[in-house]
Amino acid sequence: MGNRWFETVAHAQLRARKRLPKSVYKALLAGTEAGVSYRDNLAAFRELGFAPHVADLSADRQTATTVMGQEIALPVIISPTGVQAVHPDGEVAVARAAAARGTAMGLSSFASKPVEEVVAANPKTFFQMYWMGSKDSMIRTMERARSAGAAGLIVTLDWTFSHGRDWGSPWIPERLDLKAMAKLAPQGLTRPSWLLDYARSGSLPDLTTPNLADEDGVAPAFFGAYGQWMGTPPPSWDDIRWMRDEWQGPFLLKGISRVDDARRAVDIGVTAISVSNHGGNNLDTVPAPIRLLPGIAGAVGDQIEVLLDGGIRRGGDVVKALALGARAVLIGRAYLWGLAASGQAGVENVLDIMAGGIDSTLRGLGCSSIHDLGPDDVLVPDGFTRTAGATERG
Ligand SMILES: Cc1cc2nc3c(=O)[nH]c(=O)nc-3n(C[C@H](O)[C@H](O)[C@H](O)COP(=O)(O)O)c2cc1C
Repeated sequence: MGNRWFETVAHAQLRARKRLPKSVYKALLAGTEAGVSYRDNLAAFRELGFAPHVADLSADRQTATTVMGQEIALPVIISPTGVQAVHPDGEVAVARAAAARGTAMGLSSFASKPVEEVVAANPKTFFQMYWMGSKDSMIRTMERARSAGAAGLIVTLDWTFSHGRDWGSPWIPERLDLKAMAKLAPQGLTRPSWLLDYARSGSLPDLTTPNLADEDGVAPAFFGAYGQWMGTPPPSWDDIRWMRDEWQGPFLLKGISRVDDARRAVDIGVTAISVSNHGGNNLDTVPAPIRLLPGIAGAVGDQIEVLLDGGIRRGGDVVKALALGARAVLIGRAYLWGLAASGQAGVENVLDIMAGGIDSTLRGLGCSSIHDLGPDDVLVPDGFTRTAGATERG
């Protein structure tokens, strides 16, 4: 086995592309419609610049902070992703890597591993839910996450069930039975190391959602759960308040793009929000969250914790987000590429890339702590920021 270390997230992505069956790789790449939001999430960070100092730099740089009461060694946490079949150790490997690097883990309710195993691997786990099923089933899912020891709840609202992609959507089977394996075989055979990992682990990806088990403990298949979610009428703000009251602990609302929604989130008593367009997987042409962040952080940043996710691939991106008002960021595809490339070690590698990049950027900016970052630390071109929903409510 050669050296599995990679120096940037882009390299991890190349490895993931070589290693994963085409349909799994495309499911991770995701995006919707024309992919405008997906591309803007990445492009927007490149439009922001730095202006480094060369002397009076700080020898010690501080990157620790807290998110929803959890101490984290760097301002980067794992975003929940309902992704299956990437690696046999799945979210447990991600949780171990996050724990090894002193940070928190978001676990999707569509994940492949049970919340109990993930919290055992990393007690700083926030469980993520969508608004789906009956209130009774949501209470059951929340109670299970709470008894497992989840440190907070993430509720994700920005999803519209739009799946058309100009570059085509991958075929994903309902279950990996013999028929599905036969159909996937050509992809699997050209990706022997991925198949070998699963063969060594003694099982094939089973594409079930153990955290959405019913009262009899039966876990639905991924698409069964997805169908149930699709059939659930969307929630009102009162519904989200109900969820927050049921949970009673740290509560993060993920998927905010507008100032008025951020204000409503404050009104219902959330602990935190994440400015996000679901990694470009919600309505296409929603601007990159980094463009929307200054308006939202300016409106509610002194009342709740404001996080950001979408497009983070480097430590410098993290610093830009913090300078424009985020307390911390969540990463999605970056760690998925690492997981696909080399399991737990690959996710640790990605977190090390983030930590190293944050540290060298702070050094270049002459800044001794992430807590001292501000808008003066980045060069924001004219017309960069976007603000939606900033007019007063009637
Ligand atoms: C393949 C994939 C699956 C995702 N699944 C979920 C999910 O189950 N729950 C959720 O809240 N967000 C989900 N997301 C969104 C991520 O949590 C996050 O918002 C997004 O990936 C951030 O953008 P980035 O990938 O550019 O870092 C998913 C994203 C991807 C790419």
